[in-house]
Amino acid sequence: MPLKVSAHIQTRVAAGEISPAEAERFTAFVASCNRDLMTHPVITDNRFCQWFATGQADRDIVRHFVVQFSVFSNLFLIAQLQKCINAGSLEGMRASKEILANEIGVIFNKPGVASLGEVSDTDREGDPAIVSTEGTVDGGTFRFKAAHFEWLLRLGEVLGLGFNDMGKRRHGTPSTLFFCDQLASIYGNEDPNIAEGASFAVENWAAAGFWKQLVAGLEAFKKRECPALPLAFFTWHDRIEEQHAGHVMDELEELYFGPDFDEAKFITGGRRMLDGVQAFWTGLNEHRIAAAYN
Ligand SMILES: [Fe+2]
Repeated sequence: MPLKVSAHIQTRVAAGEISPAEAERFTAFVASCNRDLMTHPVITDNRFCQWFATGQADRDIVRHFVVQFSVFSNLFLIAQLQKCINAGSLEGMRASKEILANEIGVIFNKPGVASLGEVSDTDREGDPAIVSTEGTVDGGTFRFKAAHFEWLLRLGEVLGLGFNDMGKRRHGTPSTLFFCDQLASIYGNEDPNIAEGASFAVENWAAAGFWKQLVAGLEAFKKRECPALPLAFFTWHDRIEEQHAGHVMDELEELYFGPDFDEAKFITGGRRMLDGVQAFWTGLNEHRIAAAYN
């Protein structure tokens, strides 16, 4: 789905915050993003996810997929820390820390909910089936069990995968490692324009619906042969992505009119990052095709 400039921009023009020429420049930039980023095959035509969603993956394919995903999930922490260190502003650093801290187990603090008598006990100690997807890590509670990697470990356990079978560099295929290394070098780049382009690309890749495709495939597998499989790692990420997709344009607007924005670097970072993401899925797709012929 192409990106659309929100009506909000005209309100800003009317309020004299930005000039009509600036608004036009931004609209042209969004068109470049649509042309140069949103048409990338990893967004428009993710073969592995399309196939996976049909529910045909057997136990071996699901296991391989979970191991590769666990490597990405763990090594992503390095990229996120780099992004944090290299942030171009204090707000940027804090936004990165929200993701990093939540990833390792800080549950989002959502004031008011507990008092309304809904779930809590800090979202049942971090159970992804109920843990919050909104709020901030500031004032949030840390629970080991709320680390996203631990959610994956519990899923792996049901598939016979132990702690030392998941999440390490040595478990990654060359294409998974290429993706993880590209994340650290582009998403975590020292130049905030490159990093922001990569971040924008990653968000749009995620918003294109791959979580839903993974959930659909895993649900089919669970129903068919693995009833105990906990899917909350995937459903939680799908939930958070759904909310986040709505903010992507606002964030882009803010960045664009902020200090030192560089269009060319942003697009370059985005494109290179999408190529990295593509490598990950192509690796998984080639593995499942090869497995079908063995
Ligand atoms: Fe996560």
